[in-house]
Amino acid sequence: MIYSRIAGTGSYLPPKVMKNEDFAKRLETSDAWIRERTGIAQRHIAEESQASSDLAMHASRLAMQAAQVNEADIDLIIVATSTPDFVFPSTACLLQAKLGITGCAAFDIQAVCTGFVYALATADKFIKSGQHKCALVVGAEVFSRILDWNDRGTCVLFGDGAGAVVLRASETPGIHSSVLRADGRHAGMLSVPGNVNRGQITGSPFLQMIGNQVFKFAVKVLDEVGREALVAAGAGIGDVDWLIPHQANSRILDATARKLGLPPEKVVMTVDHHGNTSAASIPLALDEYVRAGKILAGHRLLLEGVGGGFTWGAVYATF
Ligand code: ACO
Repeated sequence: MIYSRIAGTGSYLPPKVMKNEDFAKRLETSDAWIRERTGIAQRHIAEESQASSDLAMHASRLAMQAAQVNEADIDLIIVATSTPDFVFPSTACLLQAKLGITGCAAFDIQAVCTGFVYALATADKFIKSGQHKCALVVGAEVFSRILDWNDRGTCVLFGDGAGAVVLRASETPGIHSSVLRADGRHAGMLSVPGNVNRGQITGSPFLQMIGNQVFKFAVKVLDEVGREALVAAGAGIGDVDWLIPHQANSRILDATARKLGLPPEKVVMTVDHHGNTSAASIPLALDEYVRAGKILAGHRLLLEGVGGGFTWGAVYATF
Protein backbone atom coordinates (compact mmCIF):
# COMPACT_ATOMS: atom_id res chain seq x y z
CA MET A 1 0.00 0.00 0.00
CA ILE A 2 1.29 3.48 -0.90
CA TYR A 3 0.63 6.32 1.54
CA SER A 4 1.55 10.00 1.49
CA ARG A 5 3.38 11.81 4.26
CA ILE A 6 4.30 15.43 4.93
CA ALA A 7 8.08 15.60 4.58
CA GLY A 8 8.62 19.33 5.14
CA THR A 9 6.79 22.60 5.71
CA GLY A 10 7.48 26.24 4.84
CA SER A 11 5.74 29.60 4.94
CA TYR A 12 6.13 33.23 4.02
CA LEU A 13 4.57 36.41 5.31
CA PRO A 14 5.17 39.71 3.51
CA PRO A 15 7.11 42.10 5.78
CA LYS A 16 4.51 44.90 5.94
CA VAL A 17 2.38 44.57 9.09
CA MET A 18 -0.96 46.31 9.51
CA LYS A 19 -2.20 46.65 13.08
CA ASN A 20 -5.79 47.18 14.19
CA GLU A 21 -4.88 50.76 15.20
CA ASP A 22 -4.07 51.48 11.53
CA PHE A 23 -7.75 50.87 10.64
CA ALA A 24 -8.97 53.00 13.52
CA LYS A 25 -7.19 56.00 11.99
CA ARG A 26 -9.48 56.02 8.93
CA LEU A 27 -12.57 53.92 9.73
CA GLU A 28 -15.13 53.91 12.54
CA THR A 29 -13.63 50.92 14.34
CA SER A 30 -11.26 50.18 17.21
CA ASP A 31 -8.58 47.73 18.28
CA ALA A 32 -10.89 46.60 21.10
CA TRP A 33 -13.84 45.85 18.73
CA ILE A 34 -11.68 43.86 16.29
CA ARG A 35 -9.88 41.88 19.03
CA GLU A 36 -13.06 41.08 20.92
CA ARG A 37 -15.07 39.90 17.88
CA THR A 38 -12.29 38.19 15.92
CA GLY A 39 -9.18 37.69 18.08
CA ILE A 40 -7.14 39.48 15.37
CA ALA A 41 -4.47 42.02 16.40
CA GLN A 42 -2.52 42.37 13.15
CA ARG A 43 -2.14 40.99 9.63
CA HIS A 44 0.55 41.09 6.92
CA ILE A 45 -0.05 42.92 3.63
CA ALA A 46 1.82 42.16 0.39
CA GLU A 47 3.70 44.87 -1.50
CA GLU A 48 2.11 45.96 -4.80
CA SER A 49 4.93 44.13 -6.60
CA GLN A 50 4.18 40.80 -4.86
CA ALA A 51 1.67 38.37 -6.36
CA SER A 52 0.44 35.07 -4.91
CA SER A 53 3.08 33.17 -6.91
CA ASP A 54 5.86 35.25 -5.27
CA LEU A 55 4.60 34.49 -1.76
CA ALA A 56 4.18 30.84 -2.80
CA MET A 57 7.76 30.71 -4.12
CA HIS A 58 9.30 31.75 -0.78
CA ALA A 59 7.11 29.29 1.18
CA SER A 60 7.85 26.47 -1.29
CA ARG A 61 11.62 26.93 -1.15
CA LEU A 62 11.54 26.64 2.65
CA ALA A 63 9.30 23.55 2.51
CA MET A 64 11.63 21.92 -0.04
CA GLN A 65 14.64 22.74 2.13
CA ALA A 66 12.94 21.23 5.20
CA ALA A 67 12.00 18.10 3.22
CA GLN A 68 15.52 17.89 1.73
CA VAL A 69 14.22 17.61 -1.82
CA ASN A 70 15.36 19.50 -4.89
CA GLU A 71 13.60 20.80 -8.01
CA ALA A 72 14.05 17.53 -9.92
CA ASP A 73 12.26 15.55 -7.17
CA ILE A 74 8.98 17.49 -7.44
CA ASP A 75 6.54 15.75 -9.81
CA LEU A 76 3.30 17.55 -8.92
CA ILE A 77 2.47 21.14 -7.92
CA ILE A 78 -0.92 22.13 -6.58
CA VAL A 79 -1.64 25.71 -5.51
CA ALA A 80 -4.80 26.55 -3.59
CA THR A 81 -5.71 30.19 -4.13
CA SER A 82 -8.68 32.47 -4.69
CA THR A 83 -6.39 35.37 -5.53
CA PRO A 84 -4.44 34.02 -8.52
CA ASP A 85 -1.89 36.23 -10.29
CA PHE A 86 -3.94 36.13 -13.52
CA VAL A 87 -7.14 34.69 -14.99
CA PHE A 88 -4.66 32.32 -16.62
CA PRO A 89 -2.06 30.80 -16.65
CA SER A 90 -2.54 29.17 -13.27
CA THR A 91 -0.55 30.36 -10.27
CA ALA A 92 0.83 26.81 -10.04
CA CYS A 93 2.42 27.14 -13.51
CA LEU A 94 3.87 30.55 -12.62
CA LEU A 95 5.23 29.10 -9.37
CA GLN A 96 6.70 26.16 -11.24
CA ALA A 97 8.67 28.54 -13.50
CA LYS A 98 9.82 30.69 -10.54
CA LEU A 99 11.14 27.56 -8.81
CA GLY A 100 12.98 26.45 -11.95
CA ILE A 101 10.96 23.24 -12.26
CA THR A 102 9.84 21.98 -15.68
CA GLY A 103 7.59 19.26 -16.99
CA CYS A 104 5.66 18.11 -13.92
CA ALA A 105 1.88 18.51 -13.57
CA ALA A 106 0.86 21.87 -12.09
CA PHE A 107 -2.62 23.24 -11.44
CA ASP A 108 -4.64 25.47 -9.12
CA ILE A 109 -7.49 24.51 -6.82
CA GLN A 110 -10.19 27.01 -5.98
CA ALA A 111 -12.07 26.17 -2.80
CA VAL A 112 -11.49 29.50 -1.03
CA CYS A 113 -10.61 28.99 2.66
CA THR A 114 -10.95 25.19 2.29
CA GLY A 115 -8.48 25.31 -0.60
CA PHE A 116 -5.49 23.85 1.22
CA VAL A 117 -7.51 20.93 2.59
CA TYR A 118 -8.83 20.23 -0.93
CA ALA A 119 -5.29 20.49 -2.35
CA LEU A 120 -3.75 18.20 0.29
CA ALA A 121 -6.51 15.59 -0.16
CA THR A 122 -6.05 15.76 -3.95
CA ALA A 123 -2.27 15.38 -3.76
CA ASP A 124 -2.73 12.43 -1.38
CA LYS A 125 -4.93 10.69 -3.95
CA PHE A 126 -2.43 11.39 -6.77
CA ILE A 127 0.36 9.86 -4.67
CA LYS A 128 -1.77 6.87 -3.66
CA SER A 129 -2.40 6.22 -7.37
CA GLY A 130 1.31 5.42 -7.67
CA GLN A 131 1.80 7.90 -10.53
CA HIS A 132 3.30 10.71 -8.42
CA LYS A 133 5.88 10.52 -5.64
CA CYS A 134 6.67 14.01 -4.45
CA ALA A 135 4.13 16.83 -4.46
CA LEU A 136 4.43 20.48 -3.56
CA VAL A 137 1.12 21.59 -2.03
CA VAL A 138 0.72 25.31 -1.46
CA GLY A 139 -1.85 27.78 -0.16
CA ALA A 140 -1.09 31.36 -1.25
CA GLU A 141 -3.25 34.47 -1.05
CA VAL A 142 -3.23 38.23 -1.47
CA PHE A 143 -6.73 38.85 -0.09
CA SER A 144 -5.79 42.51 0.43
CA ARG A 145 -6.47 42.92 -3.33
CA ILE A 146 -10.14 41.86 -3.13
CA LEU A 147 -11.18 43.82 -0.02
CA ASP A 148 -13.25 46.96 0.03
CA TRP A 149 -10.99 48.98 2.35
CA ASN A 150 -13.96 51.18 3.31
CA ASP A 151 -16.06 48.23 4.52
CA ARG A 152 -15.17 47.86 8.21
CA GLY A 153 -17.22 44.64 8.40
CA THR A 154 -14.80 42.74 6.11
CA CYS A 155 -11.49 44.58 5.58
CA VAL A 156 -10.30 44.07 9.17
CA LEU A 157 -10.55 40.29 8.93
CA PHE A 158 -8.06 39.26 6.25
CA GLY A 159 -4.32 39.18 5.57
CA ASP A 160 -1.81 37.99 2.94
CA GLY A 161 0.65 35.08 3.09
CA ALA A 162 1.59 31.62 1.86
CA GLY A 163 2.29 28.21 3.33
CA ALA A 164 3.56 25.03 1.67
CA VAL A 165 4.20 21.38 2.36
CA VAL A 166 6.12 18.71 0.48
CA LEU A 167 4.06 15.52 0.41
CA ARG A 168 6.02 12.35 -0.37
CA ALA A 169 5.10 8.74 -1.06
CA SER A 170 5.68 6.61 2.03
CA GLU A 171 5.26 3.04 3.20
CA THR A 172 3.57 4.29 6.38
CA PRO A 173 0.79 6.88 6.77
CA GLY A 174 0.94 9.96 6.68
CA ILE A 175 -2.50 10.91 5.68
CA HIS A 176 -5.04 8.48 7.14
CA SER A 177 -8.25 10.00 5.82
CA SER A 178 -9.74 13.03 4.10
CA VAL A 179 -13.31 14.23 3.71
CA LEU A 180 -14.30 16.97 1.24
CA ARG A 181 -17.72 18.62 1.12
CA ALA A 182 -19.47 21.47 -0.72
CA ASP A 183 -22.93 23.00 -0.99
CA GLY A 184 -23.30 25.62 -3.70
CA ARG A 185 -26.70 26.69 -2.42
CA HIS A 186 -24.80 28.86 0.08
CA ALA A 187 -22.73 30.66 -2.59
CA GLY A 188 -24.17 34.05 -1.60
CA MET A 189 -23.02 33.85 2.03
CA LEU A 190 -19.39 34.67 1.09
CA SER A 191 -18.34 35.71 -2.39
CA VAL A 192 -16.51 38.06 -4.74
CA PRO A 193 -19.32 38.18 -7.27
CA GLY A 194 -17.47 39.72 -10.21
CA ASN A 195 -15.88 38.62 -13.46
CA VAL A 196 -13.87 39.98 -16.36
CA ASN A 197 -16.17 40.51 -19.32
CA ARG A 198 -15.14 42.12 -22.62
CA GLY A 199 -12.55 44.32 -20.96
CA GLN A 200 -14.78 45.36 -18.03
CA ILE A 201 -15.40 44.04 -14.55
CA THR A 202 -19.00 42.82 -14.34
CA GLY A 203 -20.50 42.60 -10.85
CA SER A 204 -18.31 43.44 -7.85
CA PRO A 205 -14.57 42.82 -7.46
CA PHE A 206 -14.86 43.04 -3.65
CA LEU A 207 -15.43 40.39 -1.01
CA GLN A 208 -18.96 40.28 0.41
CA MET A 209 -20.01 38.30 3.44
CA ILE A 210 -23.00 37.67 5.68
CA GLY A 211 -20.83 37.43 8.78
CA ASN A 212 -23.23 36.03 11.36
CA GLN A 213 -24.48 33.30 8.97
CA VAL A 214 -20.89 32.36 8.09
CA PHE A 215 -20.11 32.09 11.79
CA LYS A 216 -22.91 29.62 12.57
CA PHE A 217 -22.36 27.58 9.41
CA ALA A 218 -18.59 27.32 10.00
CA VAL A 219 -18.90 26.04 13.57
CA LYS A 220 -21.51 23.45 12.57
CA VAL A 221 -19.64 21.96 9.60
CA LEU A 222 -16.17 22.07 11.20
CA ASP A 223 -17.51 19.93 14.03
CA GLU A 224 -19.25 17.49 11.63
CA VAL A 225 -16.43 17.09 9.12
CA GLY A 226 -13.75 16.71 11.80
CA ARG A 227 -15.68 13.83 13.31
CA GLU A 228 -16.24 12.29 9.84
CA ALA A 229 -12.51 12.32 9.07
CA LEU A 230 -11.72 10.65 12.40
CA VAL A 231 -14.37 7.96 11.90
CA ALA A 232 -13.03 7.31 8.37
CA ALA A 233 -9.60 6.67 9.91
CA GLY A 234 -10.97 4.49 12.72
CA ALA A 235 -9.81 7.12 15.22
CA GLY A 236 -11.48 9.11 17.99
CA ILE A 237 -11.11 12.60 19.39
CA GLY A 238 -8.58 11.22 21.90
CA ASP A 239 -6.30 10.43 18.95
CA VAL A 240 -5.82 14.11 18.07
CA ASP A 241 -2.66 15.86 19.30
CA TRP A 242 -3.33 19.07 17.36
CA LEU A 243 -6.40 20.58 15.74
CA ILE A 244 -5.27 22.88 12.93
CA PRO A 245 -8.39 24.72 11.80
CA HIS A 246 -8.60 27.34 9.08
CA GLN A 247 -7.75 30.56 10.94
CA ALA A 248 -10.93 32.57 10.34
CA ASN A 249 -11.66 34.01 13.72
CA SER A 250 -10.70 32.97 17.27
CA ARG A 251 -14.35 32.70 18.35
CA ILE A 252 -15.07 30.20 15.52
CA LEU A 253 -11.96 28.23 16.56
CA ASP A 254 -12.90 28.23 20.25
CA ALA A 255 -16.48 27.15 19.54
CA THR A 256 -15.33 24.38 17.18
CA ALA A 257 -12.83 22.99 19.70
CA ARG A 258 -15.50 23.06 22.42
CA LYS A 259 -17.98 21.17 20.20
CA LEU A 260 -15.35 18.59 19.26
CA GLY A 261 -14.38 18.21 22.93
CA LEU A 262 -10.76 19.35 22.49
CA PRO A 263 -8.99 21.50 25.12
CA PRO A 264 -7.66 24.91 23.97
CA GLU A 265 -4.03 23.79 24.37
CA LYS A 266 -4.52 21.31 21.48
CA VAL A 267 -5.77 24.01 19.10
CA VAL A 268 -3.27 25.71 16.79
CA MET A 269 -4.02 29.44 16.85
CA THR A 270 -2.27 32.03 14.66
CA VAL A 271 -5.22 34.19 13.60
CA ASP A 272 -4.20 36.83 16.17
CA HIS A 273 -1.05 37.75 14.20
CA HIS A 274 -1.87 36.48 10.68
CA GLY A 275 -5.55 37.45 10.32
CA ASN A 276 -7.56 35.25 7.96
CA THR A 277 -5.27 34.31 5.05
CA SER A 278 -7.84 32.01 3.41
CA ALA A 279 -6.17 29.02 1.67
CA ALA A 280 -2.79 29.96 3.20
CA SER A 281 -3.95 29.90 6.80
CA ILE A 282 -3.62 26.17 7.58
CA PRO A 283 -0.12 25.63 6.09
CA LEU A 284 1.05 28.93 7.63
CA ALA A 285 -0.18 27.80 11.04
CA LEU A 286 1.28 24.30 10.59
CA ASP A 287 4.70 25.65 9.65
CA GLU A 288 4.77 28.12 12.55
CA TYR A 289 4.08 25.34 15.09
CA VAL A 290 6.54 22.94 13.44
CA ARG A 291 9.35 25.52 13.45
CA ALA A 292 8.53 26.43 17.07
CA GLY A 293 9.08 22.76 17.99
CA LYS A 294 5.48 22.32 19.15
CA ILE A 295 4.31 19.95 16.39
CA LEU A 296 6.70 17.00 16.35
CA ALA A 297 7.18 13.88 14.23
CA GLY A 298 4.54 11.32 15.14
CA HIS A 299 1.97 13.87 16.31
CA ARG A 300 -1.53 13.26 14.99
CA LEU A 301 -3.09 16.26 13.27
CA LEU A 302 -6.66 17.12 12.36
CA LEU A 303 -6.65 19.82 9.66
CA GLU A 304 -10.00 21.47 8.95
CA GLY A 305 -11.20 24.16 6.57
CA VAL A 306 -14.42 25.96 5.68
CA GLY A 307 -14.98 28.73 3.18
CA GLY A 308 -16.78 30.20 0.22
CA GLY A 309 -18.69 27.92 -2.09
CA PHE A 310 -19.62 26.89 0.52
CA THR A 311 -16.88 24.29 0.86
CA TRP A 312 -15.53 22.45 3.88
CA GLY A 313 -13.29 19.49 4.60
CA ALA A 314 -10.86 17.77 6.93
CA VAL A 315 -7.67 15.71 6.75
CA TYR A 316 -6.46 13.43 9.56
CA ALA A 317 -2.73 12.71 9.41
CA THR A 318 0.28 11.59 11.39
CA PHE A 319 3.06 14.16 11.02
N1 ACO B 1 -15.65 47.88 13.86
C1 ACO B 1 -16.69 48.37 14.54
N2 ACO B 1 -17.96 48.04 14.29
C2 ACO B 1 -18.18 47.13 13.32
C3 ACO B 1 -17.13 46.54 12.57
C4 ACO B 1 -15.83 46.97 12.87
N3 ACO B 1 -14.73 46.50 12.23
N4 ACO B 1 -17.65 45.68 11.68
C5 ACO B 1 -18.99 45.69 11.85
N5 ACO B 1 -19.29 46.58 12.83
C6 ACO B 1 -20.61 46.93 13.35
C7 ACO B 1 -21.71 46.68 12.35
O1 ACO B 1 -21.80 47.75 11.43
C8 ACO B 1 -22.92 46.60 13.25
O2 ACO B 1 -23.31 47.89 13.58
P1 ACO B 1 -24.87 48.24 13.72
O3 ACO B 1 -25.37 47.40 14.87
O4 ACO B 1 -24.84 49.70 14.00
O5 ACO B 1 -25.49 47.87 12.41
C9 ACO B 1 -22.35 45.93 14.51
O6 ACO B 1 -20.93 46.09 14.45
C10 ACO B 1 -22.67 44.46 14.60
O7 ACO B 1 -22.40 43.88 13.34
P2 ACO B 1 -22.47 42.35 13.10
O8 ACO B 1 -22.06 42.04 11.70
O9 ACO B 1 -23.79 41.83 13.58
O10 ACO B 1 -21.33 41.89 14.11
P3 ACO B 1 -20.98 40.47 14.58
O11 ACO B 1 -21.05 40.39 16.03
O12 ACO B 1 -21.69 39.40 13.77
O13 ACO B 1 -19.44 40.39 14.20
C11 ACO B 1 -18.06 39.42 12.53
C12 ACO B 1 -19.04 40.52 12.86
C13 ACO B 1 -16.83 39.58 13.37
C14 ACO B 1 -17.69 39.49 11.06
C15 ACO B 1 -18.76 38.07 12.85
O14 ACO B 1 -19.99 37.96 12.21
C16 ACO B 1 -17.92 36.91 12.46
O15 ACO B 1 -16.92 36.64 13.09
N6 ACO B 1 -18.37 36.17 11.43
C17 ACO B 1 -17.57 35.11 10.89
C18 ACO B 1 -17.07 35.62 9.64
C19 ACO B 1 -15.67 35.27 9.37
O16 ACO B 1 -14.83 34.93 10.19
N7 ACO B 1 -15.39 35.37 8.10
C20 ACO B 1 -14.15 35.08 7.60
C21 ACO B 1 -14.30 34.63 6.21
S1 ACO B 1 -15.22 33.16 6.13
C22 ACO B 1 -14.21 31.97 6.51
O17 ACO B 1 -13.03 32.13 6.55
C23 ACO B 1 -14.83 30.72 6.80
